[in-house]
Amino acid sequence: MKKEKLHFETDNDFTGANWNEVDDGYTQHFYEQNLSQFWRPEDISLQPDLNVWGILPDNIKDTYAKNLMVLTFLDTYQGDIGMPVVSRAITDDKHQQKAVLNFMAAMENAVHAKSYSNIFMTYMTTPEINDLFEWGENHPNLRRIMNLIVGAYEALDRQNYYRKYKHEDYKPELFEIVKWQAMVASVFLETWLFYSGFYYPLYFYGQGKLMQAGEIINLILRDESVHGLYVGRLAQDIFDKFPKNVQVEQEAWMNKFLLTLFDEQYGLISSMYDQVGLTDDVIRFVKYNANKALMNLGFDQHFPNEPINPVVLNGLNTETKTHDYFSMKGTGYQKMVTEAISDDDFDF
Ligand SMILES: [Fe+2]
Ligand SMILES: [Fe+2]
Repeated sequence: MKKEKLHFETDNDFTGANWNEVDDGYTQHFYEQNLSQFWRPEDISLQPDLNVWGILPDNIKDTYAKNLMVLTFLDTYQGDIGMPVVSRAITDDKHQQKAVLNFMAAMENAVHAKSYSNIFMTYMTTPEINDLFEWGENHPNLRRIMNLIVGAYEALDRQNYYRKYKHEDYKPELFEIVKWQAMVASVFLETWLFYSGFYYPLYFYGQGKLMQAGEIINLILRDESVHGLYVGRLAQDIFDKFPKNVQVEQEAWMNKFLLTLFDEQYGLISSMYDQVGLTDDVIRFVKYNANKALMNLGFDQHFPNEPINPVVLNGLNTETKTHDYFSMKGTGYQKMVTEAISDDDFDF
């Protein structure tokens, strides 16, 4: 008997995720790394920071909180659209690549953005938190940065739709270019844009202050390092397959994108850091990280080397915190262990 086809039924060929075979020479390694460094925001108590936070002057508190708000916006959209749209653009049968990207996507908002909120909830009152979100929503430079980055993601979102559902508009060469551009946006965000926000918590951490928040930032930073490396690696594989003329054209696009973002970053950074006299210092750190982002994507650095504030480098110190791309969790971090209560626990 002929089976009745339901109106929504597709006619796809499906492939299961087969972890017995590798998608490529590096994804399973990134899988291991990502899972080994999984952590939860609630495992780090922020209460010990309160005695320091309570005595900080208002301008310092303001800069600190606004930085975490910028990080909140970046992580929110990296989780909501950035990582998912890149994952959707990956070839259908590369299930391991998708799994790694999906895992990273889950970290961005559910762990990273949530952690910033935990810091706000510990340090600030609800009206103060609401004002801070409003500041972020209306900041002209932050809005432009979000529009540039999310714009690259939405462009890929449209291409994903064409590829899947609107074949007459699907152009494979253009698809690859837009996919690569979204990955550039992703690496710029992860390895570069985050760092103006990381600077200030590291600046405190390097001086032994607000250590619990600093510990959280170090855990986030370690995740973002791996994310930037992985997406950068995927992007390099795509770029290498472009014909020479496309490579030249796309590198020019990337440089223009970089300088446009840099201008906006400059405005954003001075609006937060002028009041604590650190703008120039932060800009040097930001240039250093922009260079790192370019290197993750397989390009030479753009900005000349300049010395970074040693206090911030101390906050990033790999000796005491074991922060490096392929290390285990920071030394101060222990995952919470729970055990069910039994009758024995009441034998005193
Ligand atoms: Fe993140
Ligand atoms: Fe990330």
